[in-house]
Amino acid sequence: MKTTHNYRADFPILQREVYGKPLIYLDNAATTQKPRQVVEAIVDGYYSTNANVHRGVHFLSQQATELHEESRSAVRKFINARNSHEVIFTRGTTESINLLAHSFGEAFMREGDEVILSVMEHHSNIVPWQLLAARKKTGIKVIPVNSKGELQPDEYEKLFTLGRTKLVSVAHVSNVLGTINPVSEIIRIAHEHQVPVLLDGAQATPHLSVDVQELDVDFYAFSGHKMYGPTGVGVLYGKEEWLDRLPPYQGGGEMIEHVGFDRTTFNTLPFKFEAGTPDYIGTSALAKAIAYITTIGIDNIAVHERELTAYATRRLSAIDGLRIYGQSEQKSSVLSFLLGRIHPFDTGTLLDHLGIAVRTGHHCAQPLMQHLGIEGTVRASFALYNTTEEIDALAEALERIQKMF
Ligand SMILES: Cc1ncc(COP(=O)(O)O)c(C=O)c1O
Repeated sequence: MKTTHNYRADFPILQREVYGKPLIYLDNAATTQKPRQVVEAIVDGYYSTNANVHRGVHFLSQQATELHEESRSAVRKFINARNSHEVIFTRGTTESINLLAHSFGEAFMREGDEVILSVMEHHSNIVPWQLLAARKKTGIKVIPVNSKGELQPDEYEKLFTLGRTKLVSVAHVSNVLGTINPVSEIIRIAHEHQVPVLLDGAQATPHLSVDVQELDVDFYAFSGHKMYGPTGVGVLYGKEEWLDRLPPYQGGGEMIEHVGFDRTTFNTLPFKFEAGTPDYIGTSALAKAIAYITTIGIDNIAVHERELTAYATRRLSAIDGLRIYGQSEQKSSVLSFLLGRIHPFDTGTLLDHLGIAVRTGHHCAQPLMQHLGIEGTVRASFALYNTTEEIDALAEALERIQKMF
C-alpha cells in the first residue's frame, strides 16, 4: 500500500517463521490475522473491564455494557444500518444464516415454498435451508453460473414462482471464485417480486464498502474473524420491519421481557435474538478491527488487494499448466487454481513446506466443485498486509513444484 505506515508491523504473527522460513500467509479467506489493537482489546477486556453485560447495577458491568453497545454502534456505522438495534450479534456468518433460516422459516414459509440460492454458496448458506426443507417441506432453487463464474441474472429471474418464492439468499462475494456478485441487481429483481434478500457477506466486509441502506438489502450476515477481528463474533443485520416480525431463534436469558410458566414475553430488538451471555469481549475487539479498517480506509484496502490480485493472476497464469477458476470481471482477492494434474492437497502441502500457507480442498462449496467437475482447488487469498514479493514467492514455489512432477 502506498503509505509510510508499515501495516505488516501491526500484525505480530507475521513476524514469525514456519519451518525456519518467514511465514507467507495467503489463507485470508479462511481467517485473517489480527492486528495488535484487536489482540490488546481482548487482553484489556479480561484484565480491566470484565463483567457480565446488561444485568449489573455495578460500575464494572455498566462499563462492560457500554463497551458492548458502543461496538454495536460501530457495526451500525460500518455497514450504515439505520438503527443499532438492527444489528444482532451472533457467533459468525454461519449462526447468522441459521438464525434467519430458522426464524424466517417459522414465520413465513410453508410446505411448497421456496428459497433461491446460487451454485457458488458456502455450505453455511445451503445446509440451514436444507434443514428447514426437512422440517417444513420447503424447496430450494439454484441460480447457475457461467464459465467465468458469474451469476446469470436472466436465469435467476426465471426461478421466481409467484406466491411460492419467499427469500433469496446469496453470497455477496464467492469464497472460491472471488466473484463479486451483482447484488444490487439481485436485490432489485427480488424486490420486484416482493421477495426479501439475505446476503452472505462473509467474504465482502473485509474487502468492500458495504452500505446496507444503499443496497436496500433486507438481511446481511458476516463474521468478525475474516475482517481482522476475533473469532466467535459475527453479525446478522436485518431491517427493523423484518426483524420485528420474526420469532426468536434461541430461548434463554436476555431475550425475554417476562417469564412465567404459563406465558413468556420477549425482549425488544436486538435482544430478542441474543439469548444468553454475549461475547462482549469479542464485540469490543470487533469494534477495534472496524476502527483499524476504517483508519486505513476500506477503499484503500480494496485498491491494494485489486493490484495484488491482478499481479498474482498475471504471475500464476504464466505458469505452464496452471488453471485459474473464477474469471469474473468483478473479482475479489481470491485465486483458486489447479496446477496441472497435481492433487491440490499435494500442492498445498509442498507450498506449506516452503513457508506458504494456502487452503486446499472444496472450501465448503461442494456443489460448486461438482458443477466445476473437480474435487477441489488450491486457494490463495490476499489481505491488506500481503505484498507482491509474497506473490513472487508463491509463483516461484509453484514453478518448483511443477518441475517435481
Ligand atoms: C462465503 C462464506 N460464507 C460463510 C462462511 C462461514 O463463516 P463462519 O465460519 O465464520 O461462520 C464462510 C467461511 O469461510 C464463507 O467464506
